[in-house]
Amino acid sequence: MQSIYLDHAASTPLHPEVLDTMLEVYRGLVGNPSSIHNNGRHGKRILNQARDRIAAHMGCQPSELVFTSGGTESDNMALIGAAHAMRRRGKTHIITTAIEHHAVLHPAEKLSSEGFDVTWLSPDIHGRISLEELKSSIKENTGLISVMYANNEVGTTQPIEEIGGITREIGAVFHVDAVQALGLLPIHCASLPVDLMSFSAHKINGPQGVGALYIAKGTPVEALLLGGSQERKRRAGTENAAGIAGFGKAVELAVSDREHKWKTMEQLRLHFVGRIAQLLGDSGVVVNGHDVYRVPHIVNLSFPGVDTETMLMNLDIEGIAAASGSACTSGSLERSHVLQAMALPEERLRSAVRFSFGLGNTLEEIEYAAEKIATIATRIRNNA
Ligand SMILES: Cc1ncc(COP(=O)(O)O)c(C=O)c1O
Repeated sequence: MQSIYLDHAASTPLHPEVLDTMLEVYRGLVGNPSSIHNNGRHGKRILNQARDRIAAHMGCQPSELVFTSGGTESDNMALIGAAHAMRRRGKTHIITTAIEHHAVLHPAEKLSSEGFDVTWLSPDIHGRISLEELKSSIKENTGLISVMYANNEVGTTQPIEEIGGITREIGAVFHVDAVQALGLLPIHCASLPVDLMSFSAHKINGPQGVGALYIAKGTPVEALLLGGSQERKRRAGTENAAGIAGFGKAVELAVSDREHKWKTMEQLRLHFVGRIAQLLGDSGVVVNGHDVYRVPHIVNLSFPGVDTETMLMNLDIEGIAAASGSACTSGSLERSHVLQAMALPEERLRSAVRFSFGLGNTLEEIEYAAEKIATIATRIRNNA
């Protein structure tokens, strides 16, 4: 049986060159990067090299990067750290969206329970936020705006530059969760009107458990982790030297290959959707998300009459890995908060499946998966 991995938005395979980079670090005796002896300095050098490499590829200063344990920690630090810092300036209103990843949603809910005033913007049926609604929700005391670059469930992108322009006018902090955008959308931190940006290594063929938060110089953010003075006192804890070195390599590979990857992913997705529509007919499959404002590697499809979990289980039996939404939501029968916020009809909500493409996927695999999906959907519909 073939094994086809179509869940790259949840996690991606490690790139062989990333693995080599990490193995090299693991094989050496890396001391604690904070130690002053030779082994410690070796660890520090590894961190500095990775930081310089990432900064060069992302268009920021090395000192503007804080290494974290992944996208979740970066988002938590951005939301809680900036909200608390802005409260000192009397700004306690936060604007975010109803379609953020839980790593933003849950900190925003926590801040709301602490007394912050939180506005949740709802998207249109394609997952796009309205700039007019954003503008009209601004208050005197708006201190933080957090909007994701590309949605992890449907792939829809947001007008980050426009939102950043609005945020600059009111002197608020702008955070962007760019976890699904890195390696596909152009990211040059210094040229974007963004103050905080979250990244995760394992979405770009790097290791799990490593990420970064870009903090533009001068942005007020309080530290969440207290202890040693690592990361310029912004994030205490001994750094994951091998993971960070792997992240550095992964960023270099992802950014250099960005345009080629975009084209390849676009080709795979269009072929996939086209073939399924050909086999099931146009009414047999519906695309959830935006046609134009989107990343190319994620597609969310509804198969009316075919329950999400039934489809996922049948796909798994055929060796095809897909998901019902974000990795945390899948595995439970919870409906996706993103699709609900998009106000999709019930039938589309209960039959939605996310497919996401990446390194190693081929047109042959896509063709095979599309045929299996059509066969499963037809069988379930006929037995219903
Ligand atoms: C948009 C987005 N933000 C944040 C995260 C969390 O990242 P991590 O898995 O590195 O904690 C994810 C992971 O799925 C994501 O897709």
